[in-house]
Amino acid sequence: SPFKRDAVASGTYSTGPADVASIDWDNLGFGYIATDYMYMMKCDQGGTFSNGELQRFANIELSPSAGVLNYGQGLFEGLKAYMKEDGNILLFRPEENATRMQTGAERMCMPAPTVEQFVEAVKATVLANKRWVNQVPPPGKGSLYIRPLLMGSGAVLGLAPAPEYTFLIYVSPVGNYFKVCLLQEGLAPINLIVEHELHRATPGGTGGVKTIGNYAAVLKAQSAAKAKGYSDVLYLDCVNKKYLEEVSSCNIFVVKGNTISTPAIKGTILPGITRKSIIDVARSQEFQVEERLVAVDELLDADEVFCTGTAVVVSPVGSITYKGETKKYGGGGVGAVSQKLYTVLTSLQMGLTEDKMNWTLE
Ligand code: COI
Repeated sequence: SPFKRDAVASGTYSTGPADVASIDWDNLGFGYIATDYMYMMKCDQGGTFSNGELQRFANIELSPSAGVLNYGQGLFEGLKAYMKEDGNILLFRPEENATRMQTGAERMCMPAPTVEQFVEAVKATVLANKRWVNQVPPPGKGSLYIRPLLMGSGAVLGLAPAPEYTFLIYVSPVGNYFKVCLLQEGLAPINLIVEHELHRATPGGTGGVKTIGNYAAVLKAQSAAKAKGYSDVLYLDCVNKKYLEEVSSCNIFVVKGNTISTPAIKGTILPGITRKSIIDVARSQEFQVEERLVAVDELLDADEVFCTGTAVVVSPVGSITYKGETKKYGGGGVGAVSQKLYTVLTSLQMGLTEDKMNWTLE
């Protein structure tokens, strides 16, 4: 099937090439490639992080009784570093990841690094691994994915917040998240199936924060969908089973004429930084953007559908299957709106156009 994902696409662990020179940037998927350094910072019961440092990338030691291993007290973030044509490195809105980690930490009863600590740690980690940021011209083939983690690393046995926390950042060079028939560089339509029995999030739960358990919870439906040849799963709300929520790893947008609609953030949907950025980019391009309840039926007469996320960037949706019926979009190609928003966003992220939004950090 043209939609079959490449072996190196997400989920596949790889120690990768030992040297950056052997990376095939044209065919790089989203699998882990070991890099040089990681960043570690700890916090004790006082709740203040200190003494962060770069270390050689290696396995970490954890008590079998660590809060993160036993009760899932953990969060992650994702952001990317891009190499500009002049060789300088750009980060995209890293302070947004820092504040999202703080919000998530509050929900998970964890202390979090300050925004400044977070951003400085990201910068230090990227610079230490500078040789892994793609330097092959033209830019746009791959980026350095940055994965900050926050975990309860202290030992617990009874259910309680851990007594010690570890903030860690590692990085990996990545290409396209969905490695499907590549029609145009960076853009490949994905095919989704709507899941109407299993749910990703519940009102009052943790769907709106980036806790690790949210991602474990989607693996079952995602694996079943992949086994049937779909790229991923689109979730519905668990109360009415009628409104769109998000895809396992990204947010969703539905285009009808000049209006682009996306599910409103209401606790069960991850507040994506790419989501937020695309809303602003779309408005700057004279589209009308609505954040609201989006009914699954609206997919039937949508002109285009696309997903957004740090890993997936802007991924056009080629088809959506719901209760056995498949609706196709873009005539097998990439819709004009997805293409336009992708181009405007990535040009800004890679430093190819003037950053009037002041989103990039050099
Ligand atoms: C990201 O897009 O950065 C994410 O955190 C999603 C992850 C499942 C790859």
